[in-house]
Amino acid sequence: MSGFGPAIMRWSAEQGRNLPWRRTRDPWSVLVSELMLQQTQVSRVVPKYHAFLDRFPTLADCAAAPQADVVKMWAGLGYNRRAVNLHRCARQVAADHDGRLPDELGALLDLPGIGPYTARAILAFAFEHDVAVVDTNVGRVLARRAGRRFAAREVQAAANELVPMGEGWAWNQALLDFGALLCTKKAPACDRCPAVAGCAWKGEGSDPAVGSAGVSGGQSKFEGSDRQGRGRLVDALRLGSVRTADLAVVMGWPADPARAERVAATLVTDGIATRSADTYHLTD
Ligand code: ADE
Repeated sequence: MSGFGPAIMRWSAEQGRNLPWRRTRDPWSVLVSELMLQQTQVSRVVPKYHAFLDRFPTLADCAAAPQADVVKMWAGLGYNRRAVNLHRCARQVAADHDGRLPDELGALLDLPGIGPYTARAILAFAFEHDVAVVDTNVGRVLARRAGRRFAAREVQAAANELVPMGEGWAWNQALLDFGALLCTKKAPACDRCPAVAGCAWKGEGSDPAVGSAGVSGGQSKFEGSDRQGRGRLVDALRLGSVRTADLAVVMGWPADPARAERVAATLVTDGIATRSADTYHLTD
């Protein structure tokens, strides 16, 4: 394996980021950080992470709170379904697991809002198990290292092979930093990459990460999107209820009330908002 892993570990020991969720092994804190990090950049997550844990220091605190309070604390992070999922997860763990997140893959995957990424992130970062955490950044690094596109069933196996025994925590944090700082999507720094000797791609020719399994094409454009209107409405609902007649203006589409009603209805379907008579409010 030509030193690819060890080179990344050495680089990370020197250049790795000092992030707040790396100073804890508390499963609840790890869950909160990983859900926030899934679709939001690190610099935006850091202050929200602290504020959220100040308000909900334990999973039990979150489970006991109304869902609307959790959505309110999600302000500025976007993708508010994650807040609803987090709250549902907290309630289920409080009810079925005595308030403690399980340290077993199958039990974690059975929880609402927890998929293969989050489950393994909890195992690696809270319980220090030697499992491989695979997000789009890791998928990109693996495809480049191998010099080929992976099929869906290959990615986790390829990642598993690289985890150094007893060092799963440090390895996964190192790989996430490597993907975020050096082996980036658009501008990989192959010229100063410590692992280039063990990389099949080396930045030459077409990028094997493009179209490889588990590697996303990136977030779709926000400006003018349904997501933007949804975000505006949730921002307004955090402050109070909104009348149906005001939806179009609140959502930024004054000339298109039909679109506003259609998109507002998706918030109801997702369990974020509730409609009663002629107003919308955050679901309690
Ligand atoms: N992205 C997802 N998880 C992360 C972590 N633990 N540290 C930095 N970036 C991340």
